[in-house]
Amino acid sequence: MRCELKALIDWNSVLTDEFPLAPKDLMEKGLVKKKEYGDQNRSLAGFVHRTMKAELLRLNRPGRIEVLGFGLGRDLGWIPSVIRHLGYRVAITDGSAVACANARQRLRHWRLLRRVEMRHLCVEEAWETGQIDEAEVVAYYGGQFIQVQDLDTMWAMLAHLGAFLALPGRAIYLLHARGEDNDSEEVRWGKSTPYFEDDLRAPLEEGLSGQVKIHVVEQHMYFHQKYSLLRIRAA
Ligand SMILES: C[S@@+](CC[C@H](N)C(=O)[O-])C[C@H]1O[C@@H](n2cnc3c(N)ncnc32)[C@H](O)[C@@H]1O
Repeated sequence: MRCELKALIDWNSVLTDEFPLAPKDLMEKGLVKKKEYGDQNRSLAGFVHRTMKAELLRLNRPGRIEVLGFGLGRDLGWIPSVIRHLGYRVAITDGSAVACANARQRLRHWRLLRRVEMRHLCVEEAWETGQIDEAEVVAYYGGQFIQVQDLDTMWAMLAHLGAFLALPGRAIYLLHARGEDNDSEEVRWGKSTPYFEDDLRAPLEEGLSGQVKIHVVEQHMYFHQKYSLLRIRAA
């Protein structure tokens, strides 16, 4: 599998750590405890479930939602209800075998294994090989996905997503820790980069050849990191 990121982050090992995806600086100081880790994950899950359900109800455009990266799937609890109650289809792409196993387990639990398309593939490769038919896609969702990409990959991915926004009525949702909300003195990031909103805007607008509107739907604290659910559309 061709995946530029594999050399930088070993996702299979990151996703099987003692506290997978907990803030690295707090983990190194021994400040992440089992109960709080569980509480923080449940709270993040609840936040994204509520906001994404409301967003997709509002989008009201039947079609497929492409999920970029499953990871632990903490923020993807909205999938069953938007399939069953709002009539969307969902496909997930993740380059990690551990993430794909997590996804299959969760989909089986939701009784959606046959209804959700799961690709064990790098997103770049899925795009290059035409495995994502964007004519059917109404929205992309990426949770903590863009911030784990290096600068070149982030740029290339967002330029691609910007071009996607040229299709009428399309939207991109990112759960992202913006640089402007996360004081670098207080939060020491591991391999993630809290890209600023303007860092995201430039490649999106290059890809679209036009202006985008980046709207902060709502914000949520995950430990000491501030996350925004961003809704991005052509202006
Ligand atoms: C930080 S985790 C996602 C976290 C997820 N939102 C959650 O809360 O569990 C990022 C995931 O994206 C996947 N990923 C990162 N870059 C990728 C790429 N270029 N193509 C496909 N998957 C990728 C990783 O394997 C990992 O499972």
